[in-house]
Amino acid sequence: MANTGFDHWAIAHRYRVEVALVRWTPAGELTTGRLLEAMRYSALGGGKRLRALLAYASAEAIGATADLADHAAAAVEMIHAYSLIHDDMPCMDNDALRRGKPTSHVVFGEATAMLAGDALQPLAFAVLLGAPASASGVVAASHQLAEASGAYGMAGGQAIDLANVGQPMTLAALEEMHAMKTGAMFEAAVLLPALLAEEDEATLTALTAYAQKIGLTFQVVDDVLDATADSATLGKTAGKDAANDKPTFVSLMGIDAAIAYAHRLTTEAITALPEHLNTTNLTQLARSMAERTA
Ligand code: IPE
Ligand code: IPE
Ligand code: MG
Ligand code: MG
Ligand code: MG
Repeated sequence: MANTGFDHWAIAHRYRVEVALVRWTPAGELTTGRLLEAMRYSALGGGKRLRALLAYASAEAIGATADLADHAAAAVEMIHAYSLIHDDMPCMDNDALRRGKPTSHVVFGEATAMLAGDALQPLAFAVLLGAPASASGVVAASHQLAEASGAYGMAGGQAIDLANVGQPMTLAALEEMHAMKTGAMFEAAVLLPALLAEEDEATLTALTAYAQKIGLTFQVVDDVLDATADSATLGKTAGKDAANDKPTFVSLMGIDAAIAYAHRLTTEAITALPEHLNTTNLTQLARSMAERTA
């Protein structure tokens, strides 16, 4: 199939966030240890960069610069990379494969992997604090990223995930968990450029509704792919949710209903986008979220 304008845009912006991440992730090494190497191993050169693409598309939608979006995109990808390092550790999902490579703790040992995650988290905030935006925009964006990462966001969602292994969950409880563990970071990706640029409340509300729907879509599809795709395609171990007895959309509603749900959520996400914004790439990203196969 020929590449579309969206495909070219996505390739260019994946490259763009890679350049930003290379610039802002420390190189070299400390006098002892491999901490910086471990940070670069997980932050650079891998992943679909969906959160970064959302930040760039959101900046485009509101007419903000790509220079401003670089800070939002890189910050969210750094938090995401840290969350993956810890998610894969033996105390959590105990996974050996991530982005087609051995996981951080397999390569560097548990202590260095944990510290690499620890260090990527504040680095994300340092990058966001350096954004070319007003002081109040930077404060609002930093606050959003803190909320999205913390006990009422990603970290809290991860805690609920682990606490519910082997437990039956209602659909509402599952959605709440996914909104926290995955959705919050998607929301941050979409909102950070708008907060940096001090967009009005109506725009923020519409972007929030869009982001919440695609965050959920993303995790529904993640659960489906865990059950249906193979490890080589995913670059991570397939079938781990069932093996670990994790509550997922697949365990709760079955594969077909989960796929149908992802498509319904996508339509709702696109409908939530305000007409006065330039939403072409946000719309395409929502579609690609439901249709992805890896
Ligand atoms: C994986 O996220 C972790 C979840 C939140 C389910 P991605 O599938 O976006 O991971 P990468 O960044 O593409 O590797
Ligand atoms: C991980 O969810 C979510 C975060 C890292 C916050 P999963 O455990 O489902 O992610 P994968 O399937 O290992 O990528
Ligand atoms: Mg997990
Ligand atoms: Mg996992
Ligand atoms: Mg998963």
